[in-house]
Amino acid sequence: MDLAVAAGKPHVVCIPYPAQGHINPMFRLAKILESKGFHITFVHSEYNHQRLIKSRGPKSVENLPDFRFETIPDGLPSPENDATQDIPSLCQSTSVNCLVPFRNLITKLNTSLTPSNVPPVTAIISDGVMSFSLQVAKELRIPGILLWTTSFCGFAAYLHYPHLIQRGLTPLKDETQLTNGYLDAPIDWIPGMRDIRLRDIPSFIRTTDPNDIMVNYLVGEVGRAYKASAIILNTFDIIENELLNAIKTHLPLPPIYTIGPLQLPHSPTPKNGLNSIGSSLWKEDPECLNWLDSKQPNSVVYVNFGSITVMTSQQLVEFAWGLANSKRTFLWVIRPDLVLGDSAVLPPDFATETKNRSLLASWCPQVRVLNHPSVGGFLTHSGWNSTIESVSAGVPMICWPFFAEQQTNCRYVCVHWGIGMEIDSNVRRDDVESLVTELMEGEKGKDMRMKAMDWKKKADQANAPGGSSCLNFVKMIEVLRSSKF
Ligand code: UDX
Repeated sequence: MDLAVAAGKPHVVCIPYPAQGHINPMFRLAKILESKGFHITFVHSEYNHQRLIKSRGPKSVENLPDFRFETIPDGLPSPENDATQDIPSLCQSTSVNCLVPFRNLITKLNTSLTPSNVPPVTAIISDGVMSFSLQVAKELRIPGILLWTTSFCGFAAYLHYPHLIQRGLTPLKDETQLTNGYLDAPIDWIPGMRDIRLRDIPSFIRTTDPNDIMVNYLVGEVGRAYKASAIILNTFDIIENELLNAIKTHLPLPPIYTIGPLQLPHSPTPKNGLNSIGSSLWKEDPECLNWLDSKQPNSVVYVNFGSITVMTSQQLVEFAWGLANSKRTFLWVIRPDLVLGDSAVLPPDFATETKNRSLLASWCPQVRVLNHPSVGGFLTHSGWNSTIESVSAGVPMICWPFFAEQQTNCRYVCVHWGIGMEIDSNVRRDDVESLVTELMEGEKGKDMRMKAMDWKKKADQANAPGGSSCLNFVKMIEVLRSSKF
């Protein structure tokens, strides 16, 4: 038996990429592992640690006997007003600046400087885009596992970035290729991916710069994925089966554990204060759920663009009038930093027009909102967490993908899974109005709702005893316990 395991509980260090859409799935995974007998050290960036204290209070990051928090710097100056950090800068900074403090932290955890009841570190689970952690795992000869927080289709598309470059598809020759139909070229050579165009590939390839920060960064990160001990994905087999099988056959990847949707039944039963710790970087508006309680089943359109999306004030106004003109009831979450360079200013008549049928909030408990019986549709930016949370709740979507693999998620949602309709990136109020109307009362909307309920059932089955995610989770835990990779 492995000596470290013999000395006490297996100890997994979990380090997410320091943004909300990455922290949430890692946090859920860490909580489940804790409930299965693991000791967890959860590593936040110093900036996010402070934000959590501000948004949820000190209890949200309070150490529990087997769930402890640590921090490392992300290498960037803290932005003002708790804003979302600039993603390319954060990617560059974490990849250059985090290795040394992370290594020092693990050394500290493995020495007598930590409380005596902290067992030696037996495995590291890091975000797929924090692959510097693999170096530390290698030095300690412990498993280094990556949690890719994207869909599998998004991950598969990123894995093919080097091929897109080799084929000369990116960088673009010039900016006219953004609008002249070039992006509509079919991509029919990625094994297991059907009905995909260049525009459905994660958006960073839409660059004319051969040294683009994000493309280089992602090529590096997916390159290192091959060296991980295992890869975990927050998806479930049946929804991405064809692609999963094809990619596993074609690429020499390490074992892949598809264990999603992560918020479903194998979540821990509340105990030992595990419920008081949390991962929301913004303060949740408690009013949303009470307000939803007063609405009819399936009557509310829920609008939320996640933690990173930004839009112009004109786009905000188009969404506002589209929602107002649809005459539907809606809950719209407008993050304080949603509108570019400005605070969100809605048209003066908008409030009067939508007075008795709208609630605006700045952040909400999204999983609970999506699972509320009053919510009948979701206008989303197609971030993977939002998408898989919507699938788990059986809620059909209108998709306005912003960046990264959101374009890929949107394509799968709309074309392959039949549970969404896309809005043009150049959003217009008439389109919003007609799509919302179709979603909530049209034939297509009905069909999408039925399909969404069907996917929800399949997601539940995947997580039920004997289901694919449940079995994969059990396998992953056995391997984590024995440290046999
Ligand atoms: C990012 C990328 O956009 C996404 O494409 C990638 O897959 C993961 O990282 P983000 O844009 O924030 O994430 O979107 P998303 O993936 O949907 O994650 C947002 C998370 O915040 C979700 O778990 C959602 O439940 C939560 N959230 C969002 C709330 O709890 N309340 C809110 O009001 C908004």
